[in-house]
Amino acid sequence: MNQQITPESTGVEKKLRILSGIQPSGTPTLGNYIGAMRNWKLLADEYDCLYMIADLHSITVRQDPSKLRQQSIQLFALLLAIGLDPEKNVLFFQSHVPQHTQLSWVLNCFTYMGEMSRMTQFKDKSAKHSDNINCGLFTYPVLMASDILLYQANLVPVGADQTQHLEICRDIATRFNGIYGNVFTVPEGYYPKFGARVMSLQDPARKMSKSDPDDCFISMLDSADNIRRKIKRAVTDSDAEIRFDPENKPGVSNLLAIQSALTGDSLDSVVSSYEGKGYGVLKSTLTDVIINTLSPIQNEFNRYMNDRAYLENVWRNGADHASYLANKTLSKVMKKVGFIAK
Ligand code: TYM
Repeated sequence: MNQQITPESTGVEKKLRILSGIQPSGTPTLGNYIGAMRNWKLLADEYDCLYMIADLHSITVRQDPSKLRQQSIQLFALLLAIGLDPEKNVLFFQSHVPQHTQLSWVLNCFTYMGEMSRMTQFKDKSAKHSDNINCGLFTYPVLMASDILLYQANLVPVGADQTQHLEICRDIATRFNGIYGNVFTVPEGYYPKFGARVMSLQDPARKMSKSDPDDCFISMLDSADNIRRKIKRAVTDSDAEIRFDPENKPGVSNLLAIQSALTGDSLDSVVSSYEGKGYGVLKSTLTDVIINTLSPIQNEFNRYMNDRAYLENVWRNGADHASYLANKTLSKVMKKVGFIAK
């Protein structure tokens, strides 16, 4: 009888799996890049990675269809532009893999109203969009749990604002496993050491967000002139000392943290490089760092946007691959809960 070949039996160690996603609800910001996307690229060799455009999530807030389409394609091109190799990473659109919504229904039945009501994102978004507090917004974390659990992900690289969603995903998985046996891998969050929460340039008490007014964030597709203007206008404070002190000097500390995250230099060395210098120098140096980071990505982005056939090919392959993996988990779940096989 043929012995089944598995990575273990060949002595090749099986890589741990990663799943993460980003919503196409605008052009991604420097916060998205530093908090998540940059790490996706760094982790790509070591792990078995799936990265998706979370388009199903984005309609929990009303979207203009043509804008949504354009932003989705741009975001997909950006995944490639930051250096994610589609031969090594599964890149796909969430809406191309129907198993996400199928699992989501099942998991909805294992999640409590009280748990969802406590989610800060639900509270924030329902306050911001009080005319559209829809059920999708309420059960958003269940869909996100389904995204992760479908692929048996071990690790989920995200920014700090997703901590609560990761926790509820772990709770749902543990609950389900407690009833039906070990169906799901219980995932861990992976947060960057620096830059897990990049703050708004105009209100450094809040996180940088693509849904805020334009001068609050740097978009990954901003021109050099825009970047220069936005950093110049970034809120600092009236005392002229450059030191890292998020509580008393949130604006300056945010700029220092961005520089540290993008250059890989420690905060201490970034701070000491400004000894005896003023905010003007900090801002112009940081502007150069940001432009130098984003301009090669933007060049690649333009190249991919000019090759629609290639993009389509990558997303179709990504959807097929993701669907294949998702089906394995979904079939197991269907069987466990007592549905009849086709
Ligand atoms: P989204 O689209 O809001 O953001 C994408 C990623 O960027 C991170 N991020 C930040 N990191 C640091 N500083 C900031 N200012 C900042 N703003 C955003 C987010 O933490 C996130 O990692 N629910 C998710 C999308 C999602 C998902 C998933 C993620 C859907 N399914 C499954 C992981 C696994 C979201 O809205 O991300």
